[in-house]
Order: sequence, then C-alpha cells, then structure tokens
Amino acid sequence: MDSTKGIAFTEEEEALVVKSWASMKKNAGELGLKLFLKVFEIAPTAKKMFSFLRDSDVPVEKNPKLKTHAMTVFIMTCESAVQLRKAGKVTVRESSLKRLGSTHLTYGVADEHFEVVRYALMETIREAVPEMWSPEMKAAWGTAYDQLVAAIKDQMKVAS
Ligand code: HEM
Repeated sequence: MDSTKGIAFTEEEEALVVKSWASMKKNAGELGLKLFLKVFEIAPTAKKMFSFLRDSDVPVEKNPKLKTHAMTVFIMTCESAVQLRKAGKVTVRESSLKRLGSTHLTYGVADEHFEVVRYALMETIREAVPEMWSPEMKAAWGTAYDQLVAAIKDQMKVAS
C-alpha cells in the first residue's frame, strides 16, 4: 500500500520548507516543546498517550523525551519534504515506517491527533519565522506533513 506515490512537490515548496527549517533548527528543541504544549492545550487527554509523561513526576515542559518526540516530528517532516521532491514519494526507511506505524497504532494515536499536531505545527512555524511566513510556506509544510502522515497511517493499517 502506498498512498503517497506520485506526489508532485516542487522545487519552490522544498525551498520554503528547507529555508524555514534552517532558521528554526537551532531552536528545534524549544520549538518542539512549544508545539506539543499547544497540542496538549487543545487536546489535554493526548498527554495520557505518552508513557513517559504518564510515568513521570517531571513537569511536561521539562520532559526531555517529549522534546525528542517533537523534534523528530519536525525533522522527519522536513526530511520527507526533501525526499518528496526528489523521489515523488515519502521515502523514510521501510523499517522506520513500519515501526512508526505499529508504535502509533499501539499508543492509540488517531486521525484527530494527527490533525491537532498539524495545526500546532503550522502555528509554531508561523510564530517562529513570522518574517518568512506566507500562504505558500504554510501549504508546503502542510503537504510535507500530510504525506508523511499518510505513509505512517498506511503502516498503521498494515499493522492493525
Ligand atoms: C512515538 C514520530 C505524530 C504520539 C514516536 C516515535 C517517533 C515518532 C519516531 C518513537 C517510536 C518509534 O520510532 O516508533 C512521529 C512522527 C509524527 C508523529 C514523525 C508525525 C509526522 C504523532 C502524533 C501523536 C504521536 C500526532 C499524538 C498526539 C506518539 C506516542 C508515541 C510516539 C504516544 C509513543 C511514546 C512513548 O514511548 O510513550 N513518534 N510521531 N505521534 N508518538 Fe509520534
């Protein structure tokens, strides 16, 4: 199954993602945290899905594992955008995608969660690079995120 095949991601779209990522990279940890704090503001129950938040006395905003997950979401979206243009499809390593599918299935991540993270991702980027932000940049990040999520969801179906 491959619902991400044949996606046209233009050089311009790739450039918008890469340019804004270059400016955000050094703050990726902090921005990632901001992203997930937004997610938990909108969907407080989502906190319960993360084992390391459930089992920890450390405040959410100080949890290093949350930071790591958030950075992964950022980095993978950016990298998959670059691949999307080169290959016309999401090319996260097969084994990684399989694992991502089964992990997110196991932890009960649903469509609504992907939606909330999408919204929070856009807000976080808009606030991080206001001088670069444009409808085109939003669309480019949106496409990159949607394609990656579609690939993860394909694997979630396979694993279910
Ligand atoms: C775990 C990436 C979206 C919740 C993970 C892991 C990665 C990852 C790399 C580590 C485990 C593994 O490799 O399988 C991503 C990417 C996303 C995404 C790239 C979107 C593009 C989401 C969303 C949610 C979520 C939308 C829910 C709000 C979780 C949870 C875990 C996890 C609960 C397990 C954490 C634990 O160990 O307790 N994710 N994720 N992820 N992710 Fe995501």
